[in-house]
Amino acid sequence: MTDTALPIQDYALLDDEECNARIIKAKEQLNGECIILGHHYQRNEVFQHADFSGDSLKLSRQAAQSQAKYIVFCGVHFMAEVADILSRPEQIAILPDMAAGCSMADMANKVKVQQCWDELATVLDVENAVTPITYINSAADLKAFCGSHEGIVCTSSNAEKILNWCFERREKVLFFPDQHLGRNTGVQMDIPLQHMVTWDFSKPMGGLSVEQIKQAKMILWKGHCSVHQAFRPEHIDEFKAKYPETKVISHPEACFEVCQKSDYIGSTENILKIVKEAEPDTRWLVATELNLVNRLHEACKDQGKNVHFMAPTLSMCSTMFRTDPQHLAWVLENLVAGHVVNQVSVSQEESALAKQALDNMLQAS
Ligand code: 13P
Ligand code: SF4
Repeated sequence: MTDTALPIQDYALLDDEECNARIIKAKEQLNGECIILGHHYQRNEVFQHADFSGDSLKLSRQAAQSQAKYIVFCGVHFMAEVADILSRPEQIAILPDMAAGCSMADMANKVKVQQCWDELATVLDVENAVTPITYINSAADLKAFCGSHEGIVCTSSNAEKILNWCFERREKVLFFPDQHLGRNTGVQMDIPLQHMVTWDFSKPMGGLSVEQIKQAKMILWKGHCSVHQAFRPEHIDEFKAKYPETKVISHPEACFEVCQKSDYIGSTENILKIVKEAEPDTRWLVATELNLVNRLHEACKDQGKNVHFMAPTLSMCSTMFRTDPQHLAWVLENLVAGHVVNQVSVSQEESALAKQALDNMLQAS
């Protein structure tokens, strides 16, 4: 054990190969005390070290079931928070780079959501009429808000089941922070678009009239993912003009117009499954993050499949990209040296409420 934690500065100039060797060695030394979870958007240099990979739902289940003392989450901040909330108290969740956030999650915060709830209460019996539902891409205090109002969390792979759970209980939902996941799932459930309204959090009463709020079944927070916003319906038209046989598959964070033109809509895990299980010699246009699409192409090219990224400009999730081999080597070697760096810890009170909303989701999905 060293007296003080090893500083990140000592790692910044190491090359990837050296980090790779040190990560492998540190994992061996930790001897099962640590698991590494890797989201599908992680770059290869990091992803190769993951003991488990998956979408947000799969990884949150993995975190809940893990026996390891340390859960190193190669993903973004809200994912490590979920790992902390769902794991046992003596387990420790670690995020290799604390700056790895999610710009969509940042589009909703507790103050604004509470203000929205209070404003809705001026026109509705809000506690009996509205279930708050937060996409897992949100801070722990918003999950706690849902827990304290008999609400729930959803992910991109269970949103329909979770919305059904909500509508069995109350007539309306307040869905945050991603309007697109809410709208695309609502449409799949045959909810008419005119029964979905967008809550503009920068305007009083969300920019909506009393009548609009009363008639709405889904109140959608005006948040979005900047990575998935880059995909446009014209990209599909242009690509299909060249290759008409193309199958299109999109993540539900892509906008309504893109999802409407897609043959399939799915979470990151489902996108991988559908394309990998498809007939050989097929062509795919995929609307999700670049690292996943590139890896999928590599995995499928021997079957004659061609997997293409939808947007003409290459957009990757810059916050997912923050986790690099240098940070991973740094957190693991510190664990070997007896130091926990970059622990993500949610307060007990917040964690208990957020867990209610997460448990509701895990039971319902
Ligand atoms: P998944 O749950 O589909 O992996 O999505 C998480 C995410 O952040 C997509 O942008
Ligand atoms: Fe957040 Fe978008 Fe990155 Fe997913 S791709 S982690 S929603 S910023």
